[in-house]
Amino acid sequence: MSLRSGWARVALFTMVMVLGAGTTYLFAGSAEAATVSIANGTQFKDTAGNILHAHGGGIIKVDSYYYWFGENRNSNGSFRYVSCYRSTDLKNWEFRNHVLTQNSASELSSANIERPKVIYNSSTKQYVMWMHKESSSDYGQARAAVATSSTVDGNYSYRGSFRPLNYMSRDITLFRDDDGTGYMISAANENADLHVYRLSADYLTVSSRVQLLWAGQKREAPALFKRNGVYFLLTSGCTGWSPNQQKYATATSITGTWSSLQNVGNGTMYDSQTTFVLPIQGSQTTSYLYLGDRWAGAWSGPVNDSQYVWLPIQFPTTTTMTISWATNVSIDTATGAVSGSTLTDDPMVNLVARHSGKCVAVESSSTADHAAVIQQACGSGTNQQWQLQDAGSGYYRIVARHSGKCLDVTSGSTEDRAAIIQWSCGSGTNQQFSLQDAGSGYYRIVARHSGKCLDVTSGSTADGATIMQYTCGSGTNQQWSRRAV
Ligand code: DGJ
Repeated sequence: MSLRSGWARVALFTMVMVLGAGTTYLFAGSAEAATVSIANGTQFKDTAGNILHAHGGGIIKVDSYYYWFGENRNSNGSFRYVSCYRSTDLKNWEFRNHVLTQNSASELSSANIERPKVIYNSSTKQYVMWMHKESSSDYGQARAAVATSSTVDGNYSYRGSFRPLNYMSRDITLFRDDDGTGYMISAANENADLHVYRLSADYLTVSSRVQLLWAGQKREAPALFKRNGVYFLLTSGCTGWSPNQQKYATATSITGTWSSLQNVGNGTMYDSQTTFVLPIQGSQTTSYLYLGDRWAGAWSGPVNDSQYVWLPIQFPTTTTMTISWATNVSIDTATGAVSGSTLTDDPMVNLVARHSGKCVAVESSSTADHAAVIQQACGSGTNQQWQLQDAGSGYYRIVARHSGKCLDVTSGSTEDRAAIIQWSCGSGTNQQFSLQDAGSGYYRIVARHSGKCLDVTSGSTADGATIMQYTCGSGTNQQWSRRAV
């Protein structure tokens, strides 16, 4: 029952709220924050329920709000908007504005804009955005572009694009040092080299190139941050949309000597590419959060299908950093505490079939034992909401929110085509499932007692198609994503 399909991949994940004992949450707009939990490898939704598009983005804190800017593209990949959202807790994001649009300048009507970043210039009282600018057809222009606004989430005025000091300029980031000096870092020389530029006092242009780093080593996606007087520059390799080994170097002066490159994370940074490192300064500590993009281009999807991977950074010494995978990242912006966790006590999620984009549901919201489990167009019903509860040894019970009952392979059958139903939770291994990584944010859901996979019967895309177990294969009707609710 392994059906291959060319159907559009639907990965409508969102951010989630943990409502467990002792955990509270506040909506954006509140001046305070509490611990929130964010599901990694997902798309996020804004507070209006729309998919949040801030890819290749960066965050700036203004007063009590974090403002997140990033790419929001047309379906063909061309520039549509730089969009801006704000949050106090980094989980509940309020859409603020499409701060740059195709109408902002004639050269933006058909363009490619990547990796917008914003810093504030306290002398000119302007928010200054730098970004990577290309035509909509290829990467030949290799330019940087600048836009400004007097309010952080206002309409930015486009000030044009250029090659800084006539060097090619692609993947880009900005950094504002403690003394107010601005720096721009971008990939030059057909991405072979990385250049660090000091910005002019108004941040509108570059005044000089202060570093040519790692010539010929093809580092891109730069993210620069400073911790206790040590600068860390995190970069990816250069493999298009596909993830690769991220590396970092340190220095005690941006213009001084940088260390050699060190590996960080696993060989693909958990299927993501760095875009930014966010310091979260709280009352108790300052943590550093890795913000990465899991680009949909890696599975031939459009940029706006991309997902986010946010991970805590650990610092074994003052000049070393490590990043480990975490299914969920917990953040308390009030204290500054950030930690990663595994799937145990996951927040409620929809389970979305890859081939159909439809959700696992208990038929007719029944609360009875033996109710059928089907696929259904995703909605807000709690009969489509599931919690993965740790059953030990890498297995989970999958519990329906509306009924408190468990996904169950009927009668503990080990046969192909045995129906999936809901049943009162117990200790049976026919109610225990492991998640097997199928790549690109999808999982096979494998029954412990049978080793067989949750499968939408015959690869149907229809509402009401039953879910059964079947011998695991490569079919996308056996691949599921977690979409937080
Ligand atoms: C990797 C870059 O980091 C992205 O911003 C984007 O330009 C892709 N390459 C395009 O392949």
